Amino acid sequence: MSSVPSKSDPAARVAWLRETLNHHSHLYHTLDKPELPDAEYDKLFNELISLEEKNPELQAPDSPTLRVGGQPLDKFEKVTHRQAMLSLGNAFEEKDLLDFDKRVKDRLKNTADKVSYVAEPKLDGLAVSLSYQDGLFVQGATRGNGQVGEDITPNLRTIKSLPLKLDNAPPGLIEVRGEVFIDKPSFKALNKDQEAREDKVFVNPRNAAAGSLRLLDSSITASRPLRIYIYSTGPVEVDIDLPQTHWDMLQWLKSLGFPINPESKKQKDINACHKYYNALLKRREKLDYEIDGIVFKVDSLEQQEELGYVSRAPRWAIAHKFPAEEATTELLAVDFQVGRTGALTPVARLEPVFVGGAMVSNATLHNMDEVARKGVRIGDTVIVRRAGDVIPEVVSAVESQRPEKTKKISLPKACPECGSEVIESEEMAVAKCSGGFNCLAQRREGLKHFVSRRAMNIDGLGEKLVEQLMEREMVKTPSDLYQLKRDELLELDLVKDKTADNLLSAIEQSKETTLGRFLFSLGIPEVGETTAVQLAEHFKTIEALADADIDYFLPRGIEGIGKTRAEAMVEIFQSDDMPEKGEPLSDWIKNNVPRMKAKEVEQLLEKFPNASLLKEVSANDLQGRAASRVEGVGETMAALIVEFFNNRDNTDEIKRLVDSGIHWPKEDDAKAAAPTDDRLAGKTFVITGKFEGMSRDEISAAIKAKGGKVTGSVSKNTSVLICGEAAGSKLAKAEALGVEIVDEKGLESLLS
Ligand code: IVH
Repeated sequence: MSSVPSKSDPAARVAWLRETLNHHSHLYHTLDKPELPDAEYDKLFNELISLEEKNPELQAPDSPTLRVGGQPLDKFEKVTHRQAMLSLGNAFEEKDLLDFDKRVKDRLKNTADKVSYVAEPKLDGLAVSLSYQDGLFVQGATRGNGQVGEDITPNLRTIKSLPLKLDNAPPGLIEVRGEVFIDKPSFKALNKDQEAREDKVFVNPRNAAAGSLRLLDSSITASRPLRIYIYSTGPVEVDIDLPQTHWDMLQWLKSLGFPINPESKKQKDINACHKYYNALLKRREKLDYEIDGIVFKVDSLEQQEELGYVSRAPRWAIAHKFPAEEATTELLAVDFQVGRTGALTPVARLEPVFVGGAMVSNATLHNMDEVARKGVRIGDTVIVRRAGDVIPEVVSAVESQRPEKTKKISLPKACPECGSEVIESEEMAVAKCSGGFNCLAQRREGLKHFVSRRAMNIDGLGEKLVEQLMEREMVKTPSDLYQLKRDELLELDLVKDKTADNLLSAIEQSKETTLGRFLFSLGIPEVGETTAVQLAEHFKTIEALADADIDYFLPRGIEGIGKTRAEAMVEIFQSDDMPEKGEPLSDWIKNNVPRMKAKEVEQLLEKFPNASLLKEVSANDLQGRAASRVEGVGETMAALIVEFFNNRDNTDEIKRLVDSGIHWPKEDDAKAAAPTDDRLAGKTFVITGKFEGMSRDEISAAIKAKGGKVTGSVSKNTSVLICGEAAGSKLAKAEALGVEIVDEKGLESLLS
């Protein structure tokens, strides 16, 4: 990059800012390799805005300031494409793909043995055409009817990964085609935002992308998280030798600065194409954008030319579609299912429909908030979604197709399984059956969870058997399983001698477990596998966990004070000018600590009544209930855990389970008590280099056990860098930032 021009030369400075900002925007949005901190970028960006305002003649067509959108338009102008934008033929099964390959080879005759392909994910967005003149982005248009589209240049300019100027482009015209889309995480965030602003929520990322691109006010488009991948050229009129294959063309486009989908891959033949299809279908859910299939293109451009077109699609390409993940059908009824925690889930009974590769007749509606948000009524035509292994769900109602007589979905007053009252609370999104142990459904679902593979792992005890055991009242709670006798089991349908023996032995084997698994099996509301293991590691014994109260999980600080304020306060208290005597401390606090409410000052002084105590406080001492002692256990979960162990039914059941012989390896006695050592609380550590005595994981665990936090990278928030042998850039950065550095010896004394 050119040397930095001084601010006294606005023209050079503007050019430099433009180039620098475009370079970093490309690193960030296209290559996903940011180098400049966001704040630095913003600073330079603001400087460019103000220079351009003062010197309008310096505004250039590739200025990143144009990305924020401009004056709203009255309408979009029509654009006739220089080369038609085509569509693609479809393949739905392997045979269609093989037929396509055969057609290609039959036509090519002479070069049939030299056919290879490029596979590209078929993004579900909007096709656009972009024109660059002498390397500058000059016009962009929608596909429209393929011949004539609409000029949406100002909107396209707002897309951060769309280059406004190409790298080393030859003079002349370069037109490219690509797909504009919104990725799945951004779509979620966008809808959350829309909801918060009581604005319309979008049905899917495609609609959101389409809506955003067709806004007449490009400043709104600028706020939408649009992305683009380029997948081909349009007309190219430049005086250089162009690549001879589609693959090389993509690489050339990439070198000009265009974002190319990194999943696109060369395939040696049609079998390889089919393998790629299956592999990507499996990963479909994991991709962060929606795709509806794979496009296969003959690689050789000469062969493409020879193959030509039929009606409006090329003979050299085909879209192998994935099974549709969404379909519409009629909502016949809604039932409520009771889960192991008593939560009532509305389940849609549907007119069976084929979606996501399977017949679907039931789909979840999650909870009543979702029912309201989706505006679904019984009798509606609804959109059903089944993606991958995910449980089918009702996405929304098709309001335009609403029949005259539909029925509101309402929550039952009594539990459909046990008749107990259903409780709705403000804080809980879900309604719950209040029956607890008296509700057969809760006990049944609890037992299914208890025996499941990742819990107590009782092999051979499937849903049907669990249901029979419960119905015949042979088992009421999990501990009854451990009292079952062989002849009792033989009374059940489908249980023969061998099944009974296997089952008894599986039950016996399950007694040997770990504390983490056992805690997970108990079905404490909200406590998943990971949290259960964390609880086990933290508390070591079930008694210590059962004794923990909410103040243990979330040490009380000052109500209403968050992390940032707590940290700022610590900094102020550590300054030297705190009054030892004279001015009342409360006044000093009010005058020196911004935004302190009288109530907070009062609470603060109650806990730390004098200046010397205040000088010693850590951010953790001050924070309201924010920093938990157990990773991942926030206020809601902590309350649920405490409530669980305060319930006699639960502790009695735990005792029965342990008495029947369930056991786990004892933790080291010295560590058995819940840790009370928080010496490192409020400090953040980074570990780097090699150590002799301990592994990095051990060091990390030891720091965490003393209340410290361990992160991966050095920043100004790092308190201490633990530095072993052969440390690299982290050490340099810590030195630059003046972070305390401790070696292996120092670490030992820190921990001892
Ligand atoms: S090639 C002549 N490649 O699919 C070739 N299209 O049905 C025309 N699409 O309108 C298109 N990803 O919106 C091509 N990698 C890809 C694509 C792709 C998505 C869309 C595009 C087009 C439609 C064709």
